[in-house]
Amino acid sequence: MEVSQETQVTSIPRIGEKAPNFKAATTQGEIKFPEDYSGSWVILFSHPADFTPVCTSEFMTFASMEEQFAKANCKLVGLSVDGLYSHIAWLRTIKEKIEYKGMKNVEVKFPLIEDITMEVAKKYGMIQPGESSTKAVRAVFFIDPKGIIRTIIYYPLSLGRNFDELYRVVIALQTADAFSVATPADWRPGDDVIVPPAGSCGVAQSRMEGKEEMKCYDWFFCTKKLDKDKVLSTILKK
Ligand code: BEZ
Repeated sequence: MEVSQETQVTSIPRIGEKAPNFKAATTQGEIKFPEDYSGSWVILFSHPADFTPVCTSEFMTFASMEEQFAKANCKLVGLSVDGLYSHIAWLRTIKEKIEYKGMKNVEVKFPLIEDITMEVAKKYGMIQPGESSTKAVRAVFFIDPKGIIRTIIYYPLSLGRNFDELYRVVIALQTADAFSVATPADWRPGDDVIVPPAGSCGVAQSRMEGKEEMKCYDWFFCTKKLDKDKVLSTILKK
C-alpha cells in the first residue's frame, strides 16, 4: 500500500497514551523526554518559527509565568523546527529589545528544542500540512508525572494561546486527580466541582466522602463544594 506524504506526517499521540520519547538538543543542553521530567508535570509546546511576532509575545508570557507553573510542579519545554543558533539569537533579542504588555528584559530559562529534522514535531503531530508543511502549529501537550498525555490543545499559526487557560488546565487536571472529581465548564479553584456518577471515572470514594455537601439535581449531575484554599494548598508548593 502506498502511504501518502500526508499520512506520514499527521500521526498524533492521544490523550491517555505515554508521551512519545525522544532525545534532543535544547537551549539548556540535551534532554531525554519524557524521562528527565519524571515526577513533574510538563507542558511540551511548539511554535511555528523564531523571530516571529505572535511567537515572541507567547514566549514572553510563558517565561513570565514560569515560576507560577513551577509552583504547580509543572515545567515548560518549547520546540520549533529552527536550529539552536537561531533559538539562542532570538531569545537574546527578546531579552535585549522587546517590550510587550509591560514585560521587558524577559529571560527564557526553560529549554527550547531544536528540531531541524522535524523528527520530534512529526512524532507529536505538530506538523499539520493543511496549515503548514514547513512549520509546527501551536501545539500544547500536558504530560503528567508518569509521562502520560493528559490534555492536548492545537492552535493555528495566526492565533496566540491563552496562557490563563493553559495554567487553568494544569490546576484542573491536578485537582481532578487529587480529589477524584471532575471540573465543570469554566471551572476555577473555589468553584463547585462535579462528583462523577457511579460507574464513571474516579467515583465512589469521593461520592462517599463528600456526601453531606453533595447536591444532586438528577442522577447524572451532582456537584459539591471544594474550598479554594484546600485546592491550592494541596496542589501548590509553598
Ligand atoms: C507569528 O508568530 O507571528 C507567526 C508565525 C508564523 C505564521 C504566522 C504568524
